[in-house]
Amino acid sequence: MSRVWIAGGRVLDPASGIDRVADVVIEDGRIGAVGSGVEVSGAEKVDATGCWVTPGFVDLHAHLREPGQEYKEDIASGGRSAVAGGFTLVCCMANTQPVNDDPAVTDYILDRARNDSPARVLPIAAATKGLEGKIMTEMAALQRAGAVAFSDDGHTIMDGAVMRRVLEYARMIGAPVSVHAEDRHLVGQGVVNEGPASTRLGLPGNPAAAETVLVARDLLLAELTGAHLHVGHVSTAGAVDLIRAARERGVHVTAEVTPHHLALTEDATLGYDTNTKMAPPLRSKADVEACRRALAEGVIDAIATDHAPHAPHEKDVEFTAAPPGVLGFETAYAVVMDLVRAGEISPIELVARLSTGPARVFRQPYGSLAKGAVADVAILDPDREWLYDPLKGYSKSHNSPWAGGTLRGRPVVTLVGGRIVYDVERGVVAP
Ligand code: DOR
Repeated sequence: MSRVWIAGGRVLDPASGIDRVADVVIEDGRIGAVGSGVEVSGAEKVDATGCWVTPGFVDLHAHLREPGQEYKEDIASGGRSAVAGGFTLVCCMANTQPVNDDPAVTDYILDRARNDSPARVLPIAAATKGLEGKIMTEMAALQRAGAVAFSDDGHTIMDGAVMRRVLEYARMIGAPVSVHAEDRHLVGQGVVNEGPASTRLGLPGNPAAAETVLVARDLLLAELTGAHLHVGHVSTAGAVDLIRAARERGVHVTAEVTPHHLALTEDATLGYDTNTKMAPPLRSKADVEACRRALAEGVIDAIATDHAPHAPHEKDVEFTAAPPGVLGFETAYAVVMDLVRAGEISPIELVARLSTGPARVFRQPYGSLAKGAVADVAILDPDREWLYDPLKGYSKSHNSPWAGGTLRGRPVVTLVGGRIVYDVERGVVAP
């Protein structure tokens, strides 16, 4: 029997409500025991003194770019970057080339992940063919191939009748639909939040209403169809209010927010740094505060990175021409620890939003340190300061607003299925 003994850490397991210093014993890839003073023989010992020991993080929203744009990222490099950030399961979006709108692409992604990625990877398939918002994909066949959810992320299904049919079909097969809620017409040419930032920069604005209008429509359609709507990368106070109200009246809705929408306001765009350009854009202080509150309250279930690698030659252009998106895996924990340090969320609630919460949203059997659970584990040093240099990270791309900054809080060991796949001293050690 293979044994790992994680000794002396602060065990934070939202699934079983544990928050205390204890040892975690892993036996043959599953949690064997959580307790104090356990006697363990023949085990690989990991000293977790001063660290948090949590379920591995689950990311509901990432772009791994394979197939088709391997110059930005591939499943191997993305998987390595994920485990270096404490993520043990990553759900990858369908805007690859070709689009993941066919079971052959879903199969391909799963096959590459099995062979090349230290993190688990589960594909999210397109809701409509070619992400064109017109013709539904063969959702049942994609689900049989292994798709865990459906999304046209990066694009919005603008035709309400198509969206209604997608939701009806998703409900029938019991799958969540994750939405990129931005009204394309209201966005127009907008590249930064419409308001003081767009005025000062002299750049076209993207109004908050572009998001709220679509979230309102999709909530009403979820109510009509009884489907599970998952709202991707929420960025506005208005969307938060709509989601809260819909939940209160029993609509099956879940939501996620990114670290960048929790940490940065539109002010970050004022230097024209294209690493502050993302879709949806960074919003106002009031929007950021509303997202932070909603996360703490649980109105937003999950922190999702929207890890979106782009190559230097694509980002090193004028703001309007750069593609939207930033890296997310390796900086996520440090960035969101700011909410704990500010006293806005407790450690166990933060861990819930990174692991147990997202696992539940997509109904995956992870995010738990209960006896018998799959031993996907993150060991995190909440106080460790480090200089973030994306050139030294695992992603093939380097587009991060935190590049060159000193961050506080760092994953130090990551285990997938009881196997150590990352160690801050040695780096990624498997596969
Ligand atoms: O910032 C973003 N980047 N938002 C999206 O919706 C798409 C993503 C990408 O694919 O780069």
